[in-house]
Amino acid sequence: MVFESILTDIEDGILTITLNRPQALNALNKRIFIELATVFEDVPLNETIQGVIITGMGDKAFAAGADIKEFMDFDVEQGKHLARNGHEVFFMIERCPKPVIAAVNGFALGGGCELSMACHMRVASTNARFGQPEVNLGLTPGYAGTQRLVQLIGKGKAMELLMTADAIKADEALQLGLVNYVLDQDKLHGFCFELLKKIATKSPVAIAGVIECVNACFQEGVDGFDKEVEVFGNCFGTDDFKKGTDAFINKRKAEFTGK
Ligand code: CAA
Repeated sequence: MVFESILTDIEDGILTITLNRPQALNALNKRIFIELATVFEDVPLNETIQGVIITGMGDKAFAAGADIKEFMDFDVEQGKHLARNGHEVFFMIERCPKPVIAAVNGFALGGGCELSMACHMRVASTNARFGQPEVNLGLTPGYAGTQRLVQLIGKGKAMELLMTADAIKADEALQLGLVNYVLDQDKLHGFCFELLKKIATKSPVAIAGVIECVNACFQEGVDGFDKEVEVFGNCFGTDDFKKGTDAFINKRKAEFTGK
């Protein structure tokens, strides 16, 4: 597939996806969702990829939201379809068995904030701004902002941000636990890259297990404790477990196969 609205680049096992609509502050249009879905169908199967960075083109925006111009004439059914489709693609990201980091390089508003929250971690540049301004448009968030913001920062503060539409600065996002680190913009990509390379030295089987168990915390109908028992137990049948424990006993570094 030829991508129009994102760029992809693999360097040393790390896939960088750059939302590439800087003229629209990387607003998430239909095309971006199709392209993100295509990439995230491949990532779990692609043995050359160890981790993923999602960022925005330019120095101003990660993504300024869903593309308002695209949905402004939608009716109720189209609105529901838009949200459902957004949820499906963002679940693909959240449930990706390889680590996904949002390198938030500017505005992360509405759907942009929601995309960053679907990633496993967020690292922000000092100029980043996070917010859910949908109520200004007569809308509620539609790409799971009402759910993941609560999960990440708690109900009270999430209610405030969702109702006031206030955009918060990177430092406040750090204080709230919405982002893991705040860095100068020129250091953002390199830092995320190194974080993923560090994770890539660990057992890929165990990393996938961690993602699955943590996600189970928030999955309706799934008991996270049961999930942990299952995932932990299954590790004992893997080559990674044999390699990891053998390396520990023999005082050397493990070389994991991800099997
Ligand atoms: N959709 C479509 N186009 C957008 C956009 C969006 N979400 N955000 C910005 N743009 C476009 C602008 O229309 C403008 O295009 P033109 O040059 O053709 O007019 C261009 O990007 C540059 O934007 P601005 O001139 O507005 O830039 P600014 O620096 O003055 O302001 C901003 C920056 C504060 C981020 C402002 O662009 C803004 O408020 N954007 C909208 C933010 C928003 O409301 N996001 C939520 C969208 S709804 C949503 O996401 C629903 C959901 O949950 C599913």
